[in-house]
Amino acid sequence: MINSNKVSIVGGAGHVGAPLGLVLSSKGYNVALIDKNQKNIKKINQGEMPFVEEGCKKLLKRMIYKKKIFATNQLNEVKNSKFIIICIGTPVKNKRDPNLKNFLNFFYDLKKYLKKNHIIIVRSSIYPGTCDKVFGIIKNKCKNLSYCPERIAQGQSLKELPNISQIISATNNKAKLESRIIFKKICKKVINAEIAEAELIKLFSNAYRYINFSISNQFYMMCQNQGLNFNKVRNLMRDNYARNENIPKAGFTAGPCLMKDTMQLSSFYNHSFKLCRSAMIINEDLPLYIIKKLSEKNNLRKKTVGVLGLSFKAENDDIRDSLSIKLLKHLKSKKIKTLQSDEYYKDKQNINKNILIKRSDIIIIGTPHKAYKKLKIGSNKILIDVWGVIKK
Ligand SMILES: NC(=O)c1ccc[n+]([C@@H]2O[C@H](COP(=O)([O-])OP(=O)(O)OC[C@H]3O[C@@H](n4cnc5c(N)ncnc54)[C@H](O)[C@@H]3O)[C@@H](O)[C@H]2O)c1
Repeated sequence: MINSNKVSIVGGAGHVGAPLGLVLSSKGYNVALIDKNQKNIKKINQGEMPFVEEGCKKLLKRMIYKKKIFATNQLNEVKNSKFIIICIGTPVKNKRDPNLKNFLNFFYDLKKYLKKNHIIIVRSSIYPGTCDKVFGIIKNKCKNLSYCPERIAQGQSLKELPNISQIISATNNKAKLESRIIFKKICKKVINAEIAEAELIKLFSNAYRYINFSISNQFYMMCQNQGLNFNKVRNLMRDNYARNENIPKAGFTAGPCLMKDTMQLSSFYNHSFKLCRSAMIINEDLPLYIIKKLSEKNNLRKKTVGVLGLSFKAENDDIRDSLSIKLLKHLKSKKIKTLQSDEYYKDKQNINKNILIKRSDIIIIGTPHKAYKKLKIGSNKILIDVWGVIKK
């Protein structure tokens, strides 16, 4: 018997799946978080979030206590869930083309448990045309497939999920209506799109952000070459001049989504997406540019370089595709002595931020954690603060 109040989330112990499951459970659904990652399953069932996501720890404890949510590695949990939401990863191979094999293979596994009244919602960010392929795999068992992409900013799910509009696209009316019902419970506004439109909306959004950040990173490099401070230039550009208001700060543009989704879009456009190539070169080469500029005036082999902040974004512990980590690797490969610190990401090589400042000749801010805003860094040290975090 299918239980209309039960939701199974596959990839449920991940950054997208777990917060979504928590929000749904807080609205009365019984949620099964299905995942392969045993370590994270165990943590969740003990009421511990496997990663930093604002507000989730408290909500998880409450929902576990109320028995509204649990985690498991058993895919057959989907059998009696009306809604099956798919949040598994959609990686690209060699920073080029999507690796669809695992994603599509998963639907062959899922198919064994499907019945005609299930509602299957794909939430991962997918290569255009993937939903057609998924539908081809499952249609003999179930035709109710929706694509409702996740659009939250990692770390802010609980705040953002109710406030951003939810895109609903589906293969039939039943899937569309049922998806509207479930998302209406957690979002203020749901909007309809065709599947092909929804697939592009998600990728365009991430590519747009990725390219925008690269513009500021390019401006940062141009300013550095002139001995100018981009943050000051940016502030002056935006002062009482609305057209420049949205120019982002420069910084290490990284993480699991922006570049990956820009690459998916590029692959979809036969790699003729020229802006993608330029943005990727600019963003990914920023750590190398910093090292090159530093080595023009310093013998780096005689210096200690401290990297403050390792996660890819502020107030988060996620280091996936982090450019701070890339920077550290480059420095180490050049046999330069490094020190590292982070406020959220735990690593045995990390040291306290104040000790790092004391022991380093050069300090590079890798992540704009709030804890760095008021740091005092003596004028005898070289400070590289791409993000403009430290208050002067
Ligand atoms: N992280 C974000 O902020 C964000 C935002 C919007 C969209 N997305 C997209 O959502 C998707 C998931 O991203 P994420 O950051 O949550 O990744 P993640 O790696 O944190 O989570 C994915 C989870 O899926 C599990 N998994 C993988 N294959 C599985 C399988 N066959 N069966 C069961 N579990 C399986 C993994 O163990 C992992 O826990 C990606 O497509 C990503 O691009 C991510």
